[in-house]
Amino acid sequence: MPPLHTNEELPVDPAAVVALASEAGHLIVSMQARGLAEIRTKSTEIDLVTEADVASERFLSEGLAALAPQIDFWGEETNQAPNTEYYWIVDPIDGTVNYAAGVPIYSISIALNRGDETLFGLVLKLPSTDLYWAVRGEGAFHVHPDGREDRLQVNHVDRLDQAMLTTGFPYHRAQHKDNNQAEFAQLLPRARSIRVFGSAAIDLALVAAGVTCAHWEAWLNPWDIAAGKLLIEEAGGIVTTYGNDPYQLGKKSCIASNGQLSFHQELVDHLRTARTTLTETLFNE
Ligand code: IPD
Ligand code: CA
Ligand code: CA
Repeated sequence: MPPLHTNEELPVDPAAVVALASEAGHLIVSMQARGLAEIRTKSTEIDLVTEADVASERFLSEGLAALAPQIDFWGEETNQAPNTEYYWIVDPIDGTVNYAAGVPIYSISIALNRGDETLFGLVLKLPSTDLYWAVRGEGAFHVHPDGREDRLQVNHVDRLDQAMLTTGFPYHRAQHKDNNQAEFAQLLPRARSIRVFGSAAIDLALVAAGVTCAHWEAWLNPWDIAAGKLLIEEAGGIVTTYGNDPYQLGKKSCIASNGQLSFHQELVDHLRTARTTLTETLFNE
């Protein structure tokens, strides 16, 4: 568990945020066990929102406000842009399609930002309760369900044909051809394996943990990526756009890797090659 913090830049004790996330985790796991009454759709017919997404977001926004009333809350479901120097960025359930179907791979993602910089982040993998957390400048850690804690460290794989990759497909995939099919087709025969787990926050945590080597995806939102990006950076990896510029929140594309530069460049090159085959492109990098 994160220790009580003396870091003056952090206005909140990370352990209190972990405790809240863990309560929210219990809430959504128990809601699923009781059966979900309502599953609605959002941007497209395959973009789901359940009553548990809404309940988790409400629980976290109220809990975080009680911890630090001066810090605005930016969550996926209410999506109110923050106005304060420090702010939370929260995905109340990342992997809702898995959650709604009963696939046991989903998470809660919470980041604390000061301006554009993420200072603290956690990804709580559910229902397993593996916790991944990081404080900027102090490292990233994995607390296993049995309480053991490891420091996160990316792996050193530097060849695509030895690399396990992850990715995800956007909710507009039925409407637009710029939907990661070209990129997937390019990388599939070249990588050791590609997995699509359905929770970008978990995908990023697995890169940080040295389990996988890289994750690529476009159209992620700040709540999908803020905490996971800090985990990766604190574990020695890098996060860029498809154009190989440093990733900043709000960018449309991301490659998060173990930081092996020739390997990262290989991914950049293959994604660029794949995208030249598209007749319609929805973003440029
Ligand atoms: C989604 C998941 C998925 C990714 C999608 C995200 P949600 O988040 O992270 O893995 O491929 O792009 O939108 O909708 O489950 O919070
Ligand atoms: Ca998400
Ligand atoms: Ca979500």
